[in-house]
Amino acid sequence: VTAAERDYPPPSIYDILATPGTAAVGDLLQRLARRFVVGGKTRRWLEPACGTGRFLRLFAGRGLAVAGFDADPEMVAYARARLARRGLLRRARVFTADMADFGPRVAPASFDVAFNVDNTLRHLAGDAALQAHFAQIQSALRPGGVYIVGLSLSDYAADFPEEDVWRAARGACRVTQVVNYLPPAGGGGARRERVLSHLVVERPGGAQHADHAYDLRCYDEVQWRTAVARSPLRLLAGLDANGNPREDRRLPYQIDVLGRVG
Ligand SMILES: C[S@@+](CC[C@H](N)C(=O)[O-])C[C@H]1O[C@@H](n2cnc3c(N)ncnc32)[C@H](O)[C@@H]1O
Repeated sequence: VTAAERDYPPPSIYDILATPGTAAVGDLLQRLARRFVVGGKTRRWLEPACGTGRFLRLFAGRGLAVAGFDADPEMVAYARARLARRGLLRRARVFTADMADFGPRVAPASFDVAFNVDNTLRHLAGDAALQAHFAQIQSALRPGGVYIVGLSLSDYAADFPEEDVWRAARGACRVTQVVNYLPPAGGGGARRERVLSHLVVERPGGAQHADHAYDLRCYDEVQWRTAVARSPLRLLAGLDANGNPREDRRLPYQIDVLGRVG
């Protein structure tokens, strides 16, 4: 992956933006795991598309056994180096793999929990890739294990372009990211949301600007339900962003707990 092809800011910058709030989301994931994993044991965690490994550091630091993988070798190298610096590699494994093709790299039934937040699953570009991913998660989880997925669903008739502004700092480096989300033009036919990022990185020596762009696959409520129903996993709970049962209405972000039942 060259800088020009990269969807995301480089790992050291992405990590500055992504890390705030990680502990609170980690607390929620652990609460959900304790509630939904059958048999109580929630020690072995898997994160597909782990990026810079912010959750791997958190969970390994809390004494859990973690594994994560990412398609981008630079993300994997960064995640591993940060874990190593904190002496956490005894409890953490990180490797390069694709979400649709990681099965051979993990032992069957070797995880209690897998998780995938912030729409990352929507990087998979089509139904075949999503179903391949679900099947590999099913076999990586032990029976009674869960897959916790956080994502935003589309309402093709009602969605408008949206914008978020993220600001974060680490030491003398201040980062601002303006993100534009462009829903599929002409409704759901294309099933692609275009995400445009403009990044400003300010250091004492000056400011640098960079643009990145990528697509996320769109699912409306029915498309997502159908995809889950076709998978070997079963929907155990439909929750809001705080982990509370969601009403029968569309939320900006939702968390589904999927279970390996057999
Ligand atoms: C939004 S980041 C999330 C990283 C991490 N899960 C977190 O919450 O900080 C998305 C990550 O997905 C990775 N990614 C995108 N498509 C992928 C694929 N098909 N397989 C594995 N990783 C992928 C990118 O390289 C990037 O690191």
